[in-house]
Parts: sequence; C-alpha cells; structure tokens
Amino acid sequence: MLNNILSALKIFIPRLSVNRPRYSPLFTFVRYLTAYTALEKMLEIAMNFAAESKVEGDYLEFGVYEGSSFVPAYHFAKKNGLKAMKFYAFDSFEGLPDMTGNDAEGFCQWQKGDFACSPNGFEGFISGRGVKLKDVELIPGYYSKTLNEETKKNLPLEKAAVILINADLYESAKLSLDFITDYVRDGTILILAGWFSFRANPYKGEQRAFREWLKKNPSMKAVEYHKFGWGNSFIMHLEK
Ligand SMILES: C[S@@+](CC[C@H](N)C(=O)[O-])C[C@H]1O[C@@H](n2cnc3c(N)ncnc32)[C@H](O)[C@@H]1O
Repeated sequence: MLNNILSALKIFIPRLSVNRPRYSPLFTFVRYLTAYTALEKMLEIAMNFAAESKVEGDYLEFGVYEGSSFVPAYHFAKKNGLKAMKFYAFDSFEGLPDMTGNDAEGFCQWQKGDFACSPNGFEGFISGRGVKLKDVELIPGYYSKTLNEETKKNLPLEKAAVILINADLYESAKLSLDFITDYVRDGTILILAGWFSFRANPYKGEQRAFREWLKKNPSMKAVEYHKFGWGNSFIMHLEK
C-alpha cells in the first residue's frame, strides 16, 4: 500500500525513489530498535533446533561480557520450551587476557582488558532483562585457570545442547573447545561467533582452533549449519 502511494507520487516527484524511506534516519533508527542482530537470530535458530530435534542439555557461553548474547539465548530457550536448560557463563569478567603466541602475531583488532565487565555488572544486566539468576551459573576467571578437570568436578554439568564461543582469541577458543569435548552430544549446536575475526584468516582465531580441535578428536564430526554476521555454526556428531 505504502509502496503503491510512493510509486504514484514518483510520477509527480521524479526524485522520490520508492526505496528512499528505507534509508531515512528515522527508518534506520526504528529498525535498529526492533530487528534482531545476526547473533540473536542465530541463537533463536539454535534454540529452536535444540527443541525440535530434542537435543537435551545445557547452554554454555564462553565470553559473555555484559550479557548481550546471554539474555537472548535465555529467552529463546524459554520461548522454545527448554525448561530444564541451565545457563553457564564462562568469563574472566576482567576482559580479554594478554595476547600471547599466535594471537600476538600480526593484525589483531583488540587489546588486553577489552570487554571488561564485573560479575555484578553482568548479573545486574541480565536480571534487569528478565533472566532468573537461579538458572545461571557463573564461572569467573581466565580460562587458563578455570577450564580444567577441577571445574568439571564442581559443576553439575553433564551435556550441552547449545554452546556459544565468543571469546575472540585463538588461545581462548582452543581452551574452550578442549573443555567442551566431554559435553558434546549427537546434535549439540556449536556457535563460533568470531569465525570471521582476524580478517577471516584461517590460521588465526576460532577457525584455527576449531580445525585443530577436530583433528585432535577424530570421532567428532561437524555438520556446517548457518553462517551469520561474524560467525559460523555447526551441528556436532560423535562417530560410534
Ligand atoms: C566479545 S566479548 C563477548 C561478547 C558477548 N558474547 C556479547 O555478545 O555481548 C569477549 C569476552 O570473552 C572474554 N574472554 C576472552 N578470552 C578469555 C579468556 N581467556 N578467559 C576468560 N575470558 C575471556 C572477555 O572477558 C570478554 O568478556
């Protein structure tokens, strides 16, 4: 209807393009407020897949910062009826660690301390957006200290339905992937939100860590799922 009116107007006002209102500041602002980001959309798809395919398990997020992806993960899980799902937040809560090894070589868009948000700040952010803290477990600390057997023993974690790795660096992705190996099941959805970071260099960041992880675990099979924005996702399978 609006397009018809605009098309008719175009006859009288030749410079009026039908598409122009789409790029007006007001339209752009309203769309920014109402549209899902690429990562939010991915989380919606993942939670729906987990529910429809009856993939049981919890939600693990490595790199939560303030909680901007944690909050939609929670609400999309609830919307899809994943009532038993628990939500695990793994983060230093001090931002990125020192870049070492591969991460320190060549181009890198971040520096140590980027994305620092305290545990209180994170809990305030997510609870203010409707996340019930009783469903959430925080594992604070740098991964080099927390992603180990002791943490596994202390967590009531058995299997993962959806995993989001959004920790940016190769070293962080490598530690996260090694940690999740025991929790991956048939149908676990693995989202790597920084797949195209480091100018999408396959020898850096998540792409390198993921390739090495699959090589180290030959029984693990990854079916490529959705590419989105900066990320990629896979549905995992274990060869018997
Ligand atoms: C890009 S931010 C996460 C953004 C968040 N998922 C969102 O959508 O708003 C990356 C996060 O990973 C965390 N991180 C990266 N490497 C880490 C490591 N080795 N140990 C602990 N936390 C790490 C940082 O503290 C930071 O909060």
